[in-house]
Amino acid sequence: MTVAHPGEGPIVPPAARKPEKIIVEGLTVDFGSHRILDAISLSVESGEFLALVGPSGCGKSTLLRVVAGLLKPSRGRVSIDEAEVQGPSPSRNLVFQDHALYPWRTVSKNIALGLEILGVPPKESRARVERLLALIGLEAFRNHYPHQLSGGMRQRAALARVLAVDPDVLLLDEPFGSLDAMTRLVLQKELLRLWNHSAKTVILVTHDVDEALYLADRIAIMSHLPARIRAVIEVTDPRPRDRASLMNLKRTVLDLLGVEREVRADQPASPERPYFLSL
Ligand SMILES: Nc1ncnc2c1ncn2[C@@H]1O[C@H](COP(=O)(O)OP(=O)(O)O)[C@@H](O)[C@H]1O
Ligand SMILES: [Mg+2]
Repeated sequence: MTVAHPGEGPIVPPAARKPEKIIVEGLTVDFGSHRILDAISLSVESGEFLALVGPSGCGKSTLLRVVAGLLKPSRGRVSIDEAEVQGPSPSRNLVFQDHALYPWRTVSKNIALGLEILGVPPKESRARVERLLALIGLEAFRNHYPHQLSGGMRQRAALARVLAVDPDVLLLDEPFGSLDAMTRLVLQKELLRLWNHSAKTVILVTHDVDEALYLADRIAIMSHLPARIRAVIEVTDPRPRDRASLMNLKRTVLDLLGVEREVRADQPASPERPYFLSL
């Protein structure tokens, strides 16, 4: 394990690192007079799996929306493959916590949505959808509508819809946040398998420290508002990881998040303190 605090230099010698895919430089976001993100700098290597954890309401989704090109920063910039992000693109797709499938479309038609928008010919689109249905184990449900599926199945379909357009950057905003514990564990494994086979660069926002430890190469820990990156932790344990053996590292992450302190302070979340951690 390595804990690096911003400004302390590279975590591993530069020679061991891959090219940087996503570079966030001095990113500041203000909503009115409220500063949400405060000069955040962060980079993600090509093919890396980065988890972003932080107190609830600290700006994780905001940061992801800027990387996705859905929100313009007040200051600073995000570049992907050395080009500044100016707007949304199918090459870096965002998956939200609430799957956002269209209720009037079947699973197949939902997965095909991005391909339709891109004008992929129907024959190729059908073939890609079939491959994805097999990959996520929903072949038997291709003609079902979202309301006929379990939460886990819906989330799988949402992931497949994003994978259909073959983005090289996957931005996941608490994708398993609304699922029960068992389904969450299964989908974490599946995500790992997909990532292993695809060499995609992933940023996963999660409030679940165990999920971050199980999946990520590095964990960036954000502070309360106005948010900065408090620390970046490298998880070097080989995959598949033994969840039980990650307990020491978990303690470090929780310390950095200030959870112990907050719990002892016994101050529940409130509109004034929306950043109270909901772990
Ligand atoms: N469009 C917006 N306008 C004004 N305030 C916003 C907007 N989006 C988010 N916020 C505020 O920014 C803060 C960070 O929100 P968010 O990025 O959703 O946090 P997180 O994902 O870490 O829970 C919150 O206090 C939220 O109320
Ligand atoms: Mg959020």
